Amino acid sequence: MARVVPAVDEAILEAAELLHAGALVAFPTETVYGLGGDATDDAAVAAIFEAKGRPSFNPLIIHLASREAAEAVAQFDDRARAVAARHWPGPLTLVLPRARDCPVSLLAGAGLATIAVRVPGHPVAHALLNAVDRPIAAPSANRSGAVSPTRAEHVAGELGEVVALILDGGPCPVGIESTVLDLSGEVPCLLRPGAVTAEEIEAEIGALEVEDGAHGVRAPGQLAGHYAPKTPLRLGCADPRPGEALLAFGADAPDGFERALNLSETGDLTEAAANLFAHLHTLDEAGVSGIATMAVPEEGLGRAINDRLRRAAAAG
Ligand code: TXA
Ligand code: MG
Repeated sequence: MARVVPAVDEAILEAAELLHAGALVAFPTETVYGLGGDATDDAAVAAIFEAKGRPSFNPLIIHLASREAAEAVAQFDDRARAVAARHWPGPLTLVLPRARDCPVSLLAGAGLATIAVRVPGHPVAHALLNAVDRPIAAPSANRSGAVSPTRAEHVAGELGEVVALILDGGPCPVGIESTVLDLSGEVPCLLRPGAVTAEEIEAEIGALEVEDGAHGVRAPGQLAGHYAPKTPLRLGCADPRPGEALLAFGADAPDGFERALNLSETGDLTEAAANLFAHLHTLDEAGVSGIATMAVPEEGLGRAINDRLRRAAAAG
């Protein structure tokens, strides 16, 4: 079981070191506890998905110490700066276009062209983000389908096996997840209600669309614009045609293809998830006529990998 430690300065520094080393750490925010990992590290991000036990990759919120730090990963416009100035640090997440040269793992953003960023107000989260000095991906620290944890004990009960350390900062004052505001399009859209209300935001930047499920839900996994390669994909084949690239998996990958990348030579699904979007991206840019993808077992993270490959194939 993970150690649950009071979030004193020394423990926060240890948590920052663990995050630097690629481990997962649970920490309090003003909304709920987060399951944090280095957002620039594909393997750490894959470990988050693995720990959550999700059948598909939902894009994760990227936590930063300041708006300046957020501007290195996302493109802010005047509306974004206005609401950030008003509500950060605090329980508001902004969905914005990814910055050029954004260092955040493509897997953390589920391959989207947008990125969700937030500067939390909780003093422990803030101190941790300052100490790490890197973007931290952090979904709520519960297993998929379970309620979000608002106390360190909740996290220990559900994810104690997979986190290196749980920083105990007492109960989360807000208790529900942050408001998610999508400012990547022309009309601002409220994707998830939270402590910062639609009315407050409208007073600041004008009329909002509200995602109420009535008109075309942008629910996780159904997000418009999910990463779709330009190149057609053929699933479950290990024999690329001339001109095709191979996205291989495991030790049985055939040799001799000019353009081949292996998701994991040892057949490790966490490693495969970590490589998925980066490899797809590379092959998509290689100027090939198609991408043949080898079968990935339909188990654990393999289900999320296959889900994403099927979507990518259907989009192409
Ligand atoms: O309060 C919170 O936001 C907590 C704490 C830990 O900060 N985190 C949290 O993360 O609730 P999570 O992963 O449980 O929820 C993230 C939400 C999901 O609904 C996801 O679909 C949405 O944010 N999201 C993330 N990136 C997105 C993007 N690029 N476009 C649209 N929605 C996005
Ligand atoms: Mg959640």
